[in-house]
Amino acid sequence: MIQAQQRWLIFVFISAVLISSGSPSVAATGPGRAAVASAHPLATQAALEVLGKGGNAFDAAVAASAALAVVEPASSGLGGGGFWLLHIAAGGRDIMVDGRERAPLAATRNMYLGSDGKAEARLSLDGPLAAAIPGEPAALVHIAERYGRLPLTESLRPAIRYARQGFAVDAHYHRLVQLRRSVLERYRATAAIFLQAGAVPKAGWVLRQPDLAATLEAIAEAGRAGFYEGEIARRLVRAVRAAGGIWSLEDLRQYRVVEREPTRLRYRGLNVVTTALPSAGGLQLAIMLNILAGYDLGSLDKAHRIHLVVEAMRRSYRARAHYLGDPDFVAVPRRRLASVAYAAALRQGIELNHATRSAALGELGDPPGKGADTTHFSIIDAAGNRVAATLSINYPFGSGFVAAGTGVVLNDEMDDFATQPGEPNVYGLVGGEANAIAPGKRPLSSMSPAFVETPQRIGLLGTPGGSRIVSMVLLGILEFADGQPPTVWVSRARYHHQYLPDAIQYEPAAFGARLRERLAGMGHRFAPLTQDYGNMQAILWERRGNRLRAVSDPRGNGSARVTSWPATVRPGD
Ligand code: GLY
Repeated sequence: MIQAQQRWLIFVFISAVLISSGSPSVAATGPGRAAVASAHPLATQAALEVLGKGGNAFDAAVAASAALAVVEPASSGLGGGGFWLLHIAAGGRDIMVDGRERAPLAATRNMYLGSDGKAEARLSLDGPLAAAIPGEPAALVHIAERYGRLPLTESLRPAIRYARQGFAVDAHYHRLVQLRRSVLERYRATAAIFLQAGAVPKAGWVLRQPDLAATLEAIAEAGRAGFYEGEIARRLVRAVRAAGGIWSLEDLRQYRVVEREPTRLRYRGLNVVTTALPSAGGLQLAIMLNILAGYDLGSLDKAHRIHLVVEAMRRSYRARAHYLGDPDFVAVPRRRLASVAYAAALRQGIELNHATRSAALGELGDPPGKGADTTHFSIIDAAGNRVAATLSINYPFGSGFVAAGTGVVLNDEMDDFATQPGEPNVYGLVGGEANAIAPGKRPLSSMSPAFVETPQRIGLLGTPGGSRIVSMVLLGILEFADGQPPTVWVSRARYHHQYLPDAIQYEPAAFGARLRERLAGMGHRFAPLTQDYGNMQAILWERRGNRLRAVSDPRGNGSARVTSWPATVRPGD
């Protein structure tokens, strides 16, 4: 049994492993035709290859997503899900493609509780019982068929090639396999793919995934039926059930992506377009930015500015814990939570020189008003179509379970539910009734791809990072609002507060001794991190001069490219 404190320690440890690659910042600038920033050079290359064949940003997004499924198998994949935020230049429409996993039909509210009524954390993290029904394959088919120009056989081609021919793994892969070794070893089909004769592979080892190549080919040939029906579906269900899971063929047959209206907000002259529920990101950003809009942050010294941002974070994570869940299952007072009036009421409780104790905020009552390891990429094409997408299988290597003969690593996204309302999940996040497990329900997420817009500047950003995703996106938006370039959005040292635990988490470089002293003087508590976190992938398009900048977070191994296609792209490179 893992209690709250132990779960928290797991997250802190994971954070340290996830972010310590330390490569230099990767940035590309130019008056190009298209730009791509992703967490892996081969995914960026896949997107460029597809653009070079006449594909648009949506085809490139399908190619990048599928490539990431192959080359970052610990972070996202066909066994997981995500949110793809699309801007369709013709008509100026924005759409969120919700490819979030959903709970199996046989799921029950208390399925992860032991006989003592307490959550048994490993059950929602390791093995097939932890896996929700994947949404990524359906999302890729949907995006390609509805918005792309190329057939799936073209947009999935680079991923199929990487899976079949293999690629050399890096030190990051080595670290993540080491981290999840015990669960990867437990399942023969998983170990056969990701370990080297039972040992943790060193950087440079070539990872080949022929079963995954065949599954991608089945999707390329048959669309969603290639995954959710037929032989692949039967293999998935057979393997999951044989190992103690609860999936059925009906679960797979029923899975559908949902197109949702994104959350739109205004902050000091900026338009922000970001995720809708079941991502908590949009509403949390609305609450935080609405609170902060009441202050002139630029006129404040650094300590006061950080203090106010932290107080806004504290209140938005508290509202999340209480109100947010899958909108198809629970009534969420969205309009009121996103309102200026709600933020104004919260702002009244903020003191300019004193931290609020989270416990002092007490229980939230009725809704306000009336009584009321994951990955990201950003892509823009020559026509101005855009995609910002954050994808996940949750924990590194998800549940650690591969259904034999499919090559698909299943997620452990069930842990994003409040497996025991009131108790923290692996990211230390507390959830409430609104995020309790129910059959067919989507777990609440933090993934928050975003567009930030002024008449002259368009930003695309997002990042992995568990519960810290939303606060990282907030800090990125505030940097954009200050006119900072994308190199600053992705590289500035970060801090975070999530209501509970009641402490500011921060990267080593974020606070010097004096700044920390001043914040402590206001009553803030600290949970310093020994390592950095996040892996933001961002693009800035400045309309004047049609200038593009693409940037990868220096904390990761990403690759950012601006291309004046066709000159710089050689399909098949
Ligand atoms: N599994 C991470 C998230 O969706 O927030």
